[in-house]
Amino acid sequence: METVRSIVELKEKLNAVNASCKIAFVPTMGALHEGHIKLLQIAKLNGAFTICSIFVNPTQFNDQNDYELYPRNLETDANLLNKNNCDLLFTPDVAEIYPANSNIPTYLLGSLETKLEGQYRPGHFQGVCQVVDRLLSIISPDYLYLGKKDYQQCLVIEKMLQNTLYSKKIELVKVNTVRRTDGLALSSRNLRLSTNGLSIAHKLYESIQLAANSFKEGMSWSEIETYHIQKLLTIGFDKIDYFTCYDAINFKPIFEKNNQQSIILAAVYLEGIRLIDNLEIL
Ligand code: PAJ
Repeated sequence: METVRSIVELKEKLNAVNASCKIAFVPTMGALHEGHIKLLQIAKLNGAFTICSIFVNPTQFNDQNDYELYPRNLETDANLLNKNNCDLLFTPDVAEIYPANSNIPTYLLGSLETKLEGQYRPGHFQGVCQVVDRLLSIISPDYLYLGKKDYQQCLVIEKMLQNTLYSKKIELVKVNTVRRTDGLALSSRNLRLSTNGLSIAHKLYESIQLAANSFKEGMSWSEIETYHIQKLLTIGFDKIDYFTCYDAINFKPIFEKNNQQSIILAAVYLEGIRLIDNLEIL
């Protein structure tokens, strides 16, 4: 695997790739774990030339402290990607992605921007679109791999892809969430949890699963939500931003079981760390 830091070097490498070879792109912010690696492994399945990026994007952090504390392990990450046969690693710095005086567009995201993650992290999805749009314009991939762990992020980027003209049509592939055996969704933020925190964190997914069962059995969502929020706070979570049930396609709240595909989504704080998770109910 080769690592490049500049756009010029990246373009040189891409020019040397066989024109008939498809390009698969996995954007990340590093502190890589098996969830990220799963995206790479799935990207590799169709024989494409695989590019991963590692860039902790300042514009998507609405909390400066969170940006500064975001784990950065470039060397370990590069070794892991190399071991998993990534073809090219792109690790630009901030000036490469956001040159001084560059014009940063605003993206039309509709109500996706103000719901759930958008509500609790104002400006977050504009930042995500800014960086992903910029990376896609530089790399021009055929396939883009994203994790369903960040379900709303997948919908936001899907919308951006629909509204933006790229030099190629880009196919978005959404990959299922990779979890620890206890159910906790892998996340770079888990690295900041203490051993005690880790012994509590997996209870979020447990609650989501129990909530899904109750909902399928016909219990009303408001009853389920009240019960689980209270339970999570009692177990030791500091704060719950949301624990909700949405229609998975229209992304609107639902309160009673219907025959639509739905999804339970939650964002909680534990030891001051914000964790998100979700479960699709089919
Ligand atoms: P990051 O949090 O590093 O995640 C990179 C990709 O890995 C995202 O598509 C995310 O959904 C996926 N991912 C994270 N944890 C996962 C898990 N447990 N199972 C499966 N996939 C998982 O998401 C971002 O970075 C950034 O917002 C980014 C898209 C790179 C833009 O800066």
